[in-house]
Amino acid sequence: MVHGGPDVLELVDVPETHAGPGEVRLRVFAAAVNPTDTMARNGSRAEQQKLDPPPYVPGMDAAGIVDEVGEGVTTGVKVGDRVIAMVCPNANHGAYREQIALKARAVVPAPAGTTHVEACTLPMNGLTARQSLDLLGLSAGQVLAVTGAAGAYGGYVIQLAKADGLTVIADASEADEALVASLGADIVVRRGDDVASRIREHFPDGVDGLADGAVQSERVVPAVRDGGAFTAVRGFIGEPQRGVTFTATSVRGYDGEFEKLDRLRQQAEAGVLTLRVADTYPAAQASEAHRRLEAGGTRGRLVLEF
Ligand SMILES: NC(=O)c1ccc[n+]([C@@H]2O[C@H](COP(=O)([O-])OP(=O)(O)OC[C@H]3O[C@@H](n4cnc5c(N)ncnc54)[C@H](OP(=O)(O)O)[C@@H]3O)[C@@H](O)[C@H]2O)c1
Repeated sequence: MVHGGPDVLELVDVPETHAGPGEVRLRVFAAAVNPTDTMARNGSRAEQQKLDPPPYVPGMDAAGIVDEVGEGVTTGVKVGDRVIAMVCPNANHGAYREQIALKARAVVPAPAGTTHVEACTLPMNGLTARQSLDLLGLSAGQVLAVTGAAGAYGGYVIQLAKADGLTVIADASEADEALVASLGADIVVRRGDDVASRIREHFPDGVDGLADGAVQSERVVPAVRDGGAFTAVRGFIGEPQRGVTFTATSVRGYDGEFEKLDRLRQQAEAGVLTLRVADTYPAAQASEAHRRLEAGGTRGRLVLEF
């Protein structure tokens, strides 16, 4: 793949890879299509990719079967296990591949009773949601606001926050209200540029924390109380104000966090987390999946099958 629109996605042959020491190799059967993949594709990340030779292979979420275990692996994984992993893409090392070698601590068992397609929707967005909540550092009983709540990230934030004992106020379009409520939000307000004032109608002093999945940045800072916490997903750090703590969630920081991903696996098995699939495409139709994701409005993840 070179950079450009969805049509630059094409099938390519890459050399066979093997599990090195401390690694496992997966036969990938499903890879989720995430917004970040469109940025890897369209050149927004060209600066970071410039030292890597093409073809670039996007993809941060894989589900498949282990077919090789390297020396010194201590996570208990065996050939034949059904697993999931977050992939941090680099050159042709991305989740949109039939075969990939990963550090063993990035690979955990797939949630029991799920298909590869369902399972691949968990790792990257689940870990991102977990990291956002860890950065916000709220305690049970405190109030969290979530924007972009109908999205893959937003949905997991709501569900993990409820499991952590938080009260959740979340945004939704009229069409998504029932969905967002079903994910566990205690209060649902209409999404939009004035969502901060709608949140303040319910919490006049502001909320304790806000996870900004809709990337509304400074427009939603007013929803946070003095001394509260705000976490962004695309690097936004607000101007210092009212004692608000700003953090930038960056899920690559949770690469190889075996226990955290395995906990998400357990929470999916327990029904705390809902794995939402919008549609599936054969890998050869990845460009179609990217076009559809970029059009907006998908609810649940689009998944490529290999
Ligand atoms: N930093 C990290 O490590 C990291 C990791 C994962 C994700 N992310 C980022 O997190 C964001 C969410 O990811 P996702 O996978 O959940 O995306 P998604 O599934 O597309 O969800 C985003 C949601 O936000 C809604 N939205 C978009 N613009 C909005 C606005 N102005 N006001 C209210 N709602 C709006 C979307 O609605 P429509 O579909 O109707 O537009 C959609 O429901 C993306 O920007 C992604 O790149 C960052």
